[in-house]
Amino acid sequence: MTRYSRIIGTGGYLPEEVRTNEHISHTVDTSDSWIFERTGIKSRRIAGAHETASSMAEIAARQAIAVSGCDPEEIDIIIVATGTPDRVYPSTGCLLQQRLGIKNCVAFDVQAACSGSIFALSIADQYIKSGAAKKVLIVGSEICSRIVDWTDRSTCILFGDGAGAVLLAVSEETGILSTHIHSDGEYEDLLYCPNPQAAAGADEQQAGYINMRGNEVFKVAVNTLGRIVEETLDANSMDRSEIDWLVPHQANIRIIAATAKKLKMSMDQVVVTLETQGNTSSASVLLAFNEAVRDGRIQRGQVVLLEAFGAGFTWGSALIKY
Ligand code: ACO
Repeated sequence: MTRYSRIIGTGGYLPEEVRTNEHISHTVDTSDSWIFERTGIKSRRIAGAHETASSMAEIAARQAIAVSGCDPEEIDIIIVATGTPDRVYPSTGCLLQQRLGIKNCVAFDVQAACSGSIFALSIADQYIKSGAAKKVLIVGSEICSRIVDWTDRSTCILFGDGAGAVLLAVSEETGILSTHIHSDGEYEDLLYCPNPQAAAGADEQQAGYINMRGNEVFKVAVNTLGRIVEETLDANSMDRSEIDWLVPHQANIRIIAATAKKLKMSMDQVVVTLETQGNTSSASVLLAFNEAVRDGRIQRGQVVLLEAFGAGFTWGSALIKY
């Protein structure tokens, strides 16, 4: 039997507070029009004081499990992708396992910045295809607002909070067709967030906050995502016209449009959540996927390309026959 990883449930959670560009323009020297024209973002959600990556992950995960109709005890592995864990340890995966009350599974985190959910999908797919696991829960959950310097106009306009989830199950029917993940640690200086307690010699002013040379990141992101699209199509001997939907990481509408152009896809075939969510890092692809499945845009049997790019640099894709 050929084993595929098939998505049997999706979920998502966005915190209540909507923080608009207008609101941010009262605290730093920026404007709604600058932010929208350069990024495509109008507003983002900000987690409440009581919320954490694990609390948001729980809500998204419970939705995905409920949709699938499966018993949580059937889950073999929980993988949480996050760069904003509640604690250094235990992992957010273990905290989520506790919240879900699942006893007999393994749980861990993946840290690949904005590419985290694609890395998690890739790991899960290897376990399922090899027969080592039957059901894997993947959650991307981020409280970016807590690692953003709200006085730095070059980064605070970009990020938002939220969680997205998918539940994968082994199936004879097609599901994930291929995944492709990459890293290049040479680019640390262009995008990083120090851990203030463990870093040696971190700049005290910026300790704990996202530092980004946005313009340089932008150029590498556009080129790299172009290459990953080619790699994914080649690996599946597929023509770009066979892809029904692009579900990209939501960092910047201009990066997304460049990838769509490479695929000769109309923006109507691209799932964009950026305008109201900003960049939710490892949550963004799963949040966008969940939204398009729930509103009926993505239908069973359609071919969907998921892709992401983030700090590291890390980048990756997953081609799915949903
Ligand atoms: N409002 C007004 N002006 C601003 C703002 C702002 N919020 N931010 C920067 N500027 C100014 C700059 O100071 C600069 O002024 P100067 O010309 O006088 O020096 C000017 O605007 C242009 O700045 P750039 O950085 O060149 O602007 P750019 O067009 O590149 O847009 C942006 C910046 C939106 C950050 C873009 O570069 C981008 O999206 N980069 C990629 C981000 C990304 O993909 N990150 C990876 C994923 S994130 C992760 O992994 C955690």
